[in-house]
Amino acid sequence: MCGIICYCGHKQVVPILIEGLKRLEYRGYDSAGFAVVDNKEAGAGPQSMNGGETNSPQLKNLRKKTRISPDSGKKNKIVKTQGRVGRLEKKKIGLEIDATFGIAHTRWATHGKPSEINAHPQGDCSGKIAVVHNGIIENYQELKKELQEKGHKFKSDTDTEVIPHLIEEYFDGDLEVAVLKAVERLHGTFGIAVIHADVEHQIIIVKRGSPIIIGVGKDEYYAASDSNALAPFTNRMIYLSDDEMAVLNTSGYYIKNLRNELLEKQIEILDADEYRVDKKGFEHYMLKEIFEQPESVKNAFRGRLIENEGVSKLGGLEPVIDRLKNIKKLIIVSCGTSYYAGLLGRYIFENLTELDVETALASEFRYRRLKLDENVAVLAISQSGETADTLAAVKEAKRKGALLLGIVNSVGTGIAQITDAGVYNHAGPEIGVASTKIYTSQLVIQTLIALMIGRYQHISFIEGSEIINAITKLPEQIEEILANSKEIEEIALKYSRYRDFLYIGRLYNYPTAMEGALKLKEISYIHAEGYPAGEMKHGPISLIDEDFPTVAIAPDDLALDKMISNMQEIKARNGKILSITNVTAHKVLDISDDVIYVPGTLPILQPILNIVPLQLFAYYIANERGCDIDKPRNLAKSVTVE
Ligand code: F6R
Repeated sequence: MCGIICYCGHKQVVPILIEGLKRLEYRGYDSAGFAVVDNKEAGAGPQSMNGGETNSPQLKNLRKKTRISPDSGKKNKIVKTQGRVGRLEKKKIGLEIDATFGIAHTRWATHGKPSEINAHPQGDCSGKIAVVHNGIIENYQELKKELQEKGHKFKSDTDTEVIPHLIEEYFDGDLEVAVLKAVERLHGTFGIAVIHADVEHQIIIVKRGSPIIIGVGKDEYYAASDSNALAPFTNRMIYLSDDEMAVLNTSGYYIKNLRNELLEKQIEILDADEYRVDKKGFEHYMLKEIFEQPESVKNAFRGRLIENEGVSKLGGLEPVIDRLKNIKKLIIVSCGTSYYAGLLGRYIFENLTELDVETALASEFRYRRLKLDENVAVLAISQSGETADTLAAVKEAKRKGALLLGIVNSVGTGIAQITDAGVYNHAGPEIGVASTKIYTSQLVIQTLIALMIGRYQHISFIEGSEIINAITKLPEQIEEILANSKEIEEIALKYSRYRDFLYIGRLYNYPTAMEGALKLKEISYIHAEGYPAGEMKHGPISLIDEDFPTVAIAPDDLALDKMISNMQEIKARNGKILSITNVTAHKVLDISDDVIYVPGTLPILQPILNIVPLQLFAYYIANERGCDIDKPRNLAKSVTVE
């Protein structure tokens, strides 16, 4: 949610910031802006006063800390726009900026509506300090009042604007000290980047709660809210932890904690292929990502199956395997699509293990009086690894002593860092705001974890082997569904003008109904309710008429006969039915207006296949309605606010 990109080096900074912002735009896209110090600006330029040097090996090239005399006469050049990065790019044409360091931001509004004034960077009164910020400053109102009483003039409705003014208040020639003092006053979550027009070539970054990654180039340094933005520039990254500060300049960087102590952090080398981002000829990232599922599903189980033992092996869980064997209860916490993956996870773990399993919405988890101890494992599922609600739930579970596990796609992110052990999806970046390939990957990985635990419990070698066999067939079965996409598109077009939909399923496909409905509503803005089919008669059936179609997920499983009864109740009220099924028998066909067939697999794996046509169905309807599929209104990819 909101994206930050910063650069400090010897190249022209504006094209780098724009390129980075484009790659971050999926995180938030209602306004954008950048701040640089233009070399053409009139002014005396900074005067260097040496500060302390350090002897950390990380700091080999670090030039002496820069202190400056109070006023060089320079000011930041801040360029902002409401709307997309494309508009910002147009706006900078003709400005002829000559600058080699700067900070930039793309916003998802929290405090203050989307507008140019509320866009970041936000500045101070002098025009010298500029700040970009992800997260929320919870005590901004009291800070704003205090600063206004001291004479600071505010222009925006944002919480962020208090940060540059606070820094200005504390600034007496040492930007680092001023930032440290300001940060001490902030409550909430933040990833911030700060520049000062008089402190040339220095960017100060601080992280608490919102992710920030440092990119290390050759005599050039970057910072960004995720590694996707840095991928075109460098594959050497440092993941900051909470309450850490990085100071970047052209000849080096150093990292400190907020007690001003130097830290040594490891540089991680990213696999460039995992971070390659392009549409590969597809019209939208979402469509590309739907079509990537044979590969992303394969990546979820590649190297993780021991076929001759009928078991799975997950390297990331090895360090906690003894603890895991003794766990009695598993609580899966997550949000949105990842929550629906967890909802299905409950059925998977209940089926394959002896664990007592619960699924919890991360945003509600911390309000509960749950008994969590060393016999409980909490499994956080998150594509971004940054979702604030999920992170808060994990922190709560940590306080109470539970074993913390994660399934995360984005490497090195907050949830991956805080958990005791975990499994990466290795699905590559997911750029479309609506999650698709990660959902199916999350289902596969939960099955692998359940199988691993279950094989220590009651699951036999034969059962384990059957599951493995079925998992390995999934990629080609997904290919089969994708090969049918034209037919699915034709069916979608028939349904594209309805205003409301009901999605129903039972057992393993109750979560499929929820996720199918979520896909439709978030990208097409059509009202769609997901419901467990058995609950329909307790209320929602009152909605059904000839203008309110139902998508029924009705595969061949223990619940099929009951599903058919529910579908008959809909037919009896003139409701149209589109069925997703692997059953060719008349009992499904006769009560369906349209049918999308999917190949059959084990009932616990069937949802991995059933969701694929529902993703395509939502996509084609949204496309037909001319919606902005990769960037649906009001949404953002990673939700770093509670
Ligand atoms: C919906 C969607 C969201 C996310 C949710 C959690 O398509 O993408 O509902 O699933 O915001 O995000 P992560 O998985 O990053 O924690």
